[in-house]
Amino acid sequence: MSKIFLTVALFFGMAQAKVSEESWLRGPASSEVNIEFSIDTVILGDDSADASILFIPKEEVAKMSAPDSSTPVRRWIFNSKKFEGKIGQTCCFPIGHIDSLMVEGFVGIGDAMKIDQKGIEEIRRALGSVISKLREYNVSHIAAGPIGVDKFSVSMESLVRDLATTLVMSLYKFDCLKTDGKKWNPKVTFVPFEGYTGNKLELRKAFEEGVMIGKSVNMARYLADIPPNYLNPEFFAKYAERRVAKENGLEFRVFGRERALELGMGGFCAVDSGSTANPGRFVTLEYKCGEKDAKKIALVGKGVTFDSGGLTLKPFRSMTDMKYDMCGAASVLATMNAVAQLKPKVNVVGIMPLVENMPDGKACRQDDVITHMNGKTTEIQNTDAEGRLILADALCYAEKFHSPDVIIDVATLTGGCLHSLGHFYSAVMTRDTNLREKIISSGTRCGERMWPLPLDDDFKAAIKSEVADVANSGIPKYFAGTVTAGMFLENFVTNSHWAHIDIAGTAHGVPDISYVGGGATGVPVRTFIDLIKSYEEG
Ligand code: BES
Ligand code: ZN
Ligand code: ZN
Repeated sequence: MSKIFLTVALFFGMAQAKVSEESWLRGPASSEVNIEFSIDTVILGDDSADASILFIPKEEVAKMSAPDSSTPVRRWIFNSKKFEGKIGQTCCFPIGHIDSLMVEGFVGIGDAMKIDQKGIEEIRRALGSVISKLREYNVSHIAAGPIGVDKFSVSMESLVRDLATTLVMSLYKFDCLKTDGKKWNPKVTFVPFEGYTGNKLELRKAFEEGVMIGKSVNMARYLADIPPNYLNPEFFAKYAERRVAKENGLEFRVFGRERALELGMGGFCAVDSGSTANPGRFVTLEYKCGEKDAKKIALVGKGVTFDSGGLTLKPFRSMTDMKYDMCGAASVLATMNAVAQLKPKVNVVGIMPLVENMPDGKACRQDDVITHMNGKTTEIQNTDAEGRLILADALCYAEKFHSPDVIIDVATLTGGCLHSLGHFYSAVMTRDTNLREKIISSGTRCGERMWPLPLDDDFKAAIKSEVADVANSGIPKYFAGTVTAGMFLENFVTNSHWAHIDIAGTAHGVPDISYVGGGATGVPVRTFIDLIKSYEEG
């Protein structure tokens, strides 16, 4: 019997040792993306690259279809109307001889002077699907750029920044646990089109910023995709310290259970007590811009590295993918990574409560009553509603130690959010209409759509408790589980402009959006970055 146990233990020991912590800390693979901006007028389709991505407006297709104005294959594609340059349209085909094969990819941009937000998202998706085709062809050097146009209805800088982010996001794949050796890491050269007369250095700056944002998004995706036997609170904290704080010179603070108890974080400690194997960490990263009157924004992210439900154990289907329950924290960390490099004139603090929700003998129970950092009491009616328990203390912590002007928390908080809004919209809850508008319009600009849900006093009755100030789950007859979770959190913010974003549906497993693939999406890193910039502007 004991021999069997030893064999099993050894097996597990070996399994854990397969990928070392050091190698996880070096990731994500996309930090190695080989992507450059070419100031020289390299002609797209030049021999140095074995693939090209051409962003082509409709008018250009007409010109290129004329006799002698293009290669025979291109003319055949245009004349047979396989590609008309409509916005979001794609076409990918191999050309050349057996010894010099090359793949051409077309992305239609329609009428360049009529591109709106929706059109930009169509271009992003078209780019993503061309990249996945080029992945199948296993090309090694891609030259990409617009042809036949140097003016768009949006600024060239913002378009190039966005395309760079989308390129980097499209190249991401979580393949570090695949042992078949098929890793695709092509070189990408972005060529601002030949006739571009604007300031190419400004354009390069925009491009590099776009790449950096893409890499930050991929960092959030990478952390979320790492399996929970590797990524626990301690590893997340180590990654935050080494790969984000140290590399970018941000202030880093971390504490565990002992300090959390001293601070009176009853919610954090209650959830943390269920995992003796992987104890929790409370991580803070701070960016200070150095300006006297600058605004301060606090971002708070739910970091449950695995949500088993605790004693209120989830059924097996619902437990699948619960490694993604730290996507809120990952997006906050990745935003801090970008903020440190963008250096906006706003102070930003990222707050990440990290725990594993497990049913250990020391775990909290249904019926337990806990006291949060602000003195309020919560009756735990369901240990699977753990996210709001840790966020409650994190919100108190944000106000007590940072006095921010604005607090935004982000969490994979409720299954109900996935049911009501599906995979394409995150839910925003706030009573502050101005903040709501700001968040939603940043989201729309970035391709991370959001939709408002109400916070309203009528819902207070849904989280009433007989024994404590509030209960951590809503009374069933009130339904609206996403809203009642937001109502619960409202008890822990007093002074700041506050909004809550539920990303349960948008954080991973989003179908049909080519450039975010099937795993983690990195939502809402792009929105946060855009929003922080908008505070810099006033
Ligand atoms: N992490 C889950 C929410 C979730 C579910 C995210 C499905 C993504 C997909 C959260 O901790 C949870 O279990 N919430 C419960 C709360 C309920 C017990 C009051 C829920 O929404 O069902
Ligand atoms: Zn849960
Ligand atoms: Zn959860």
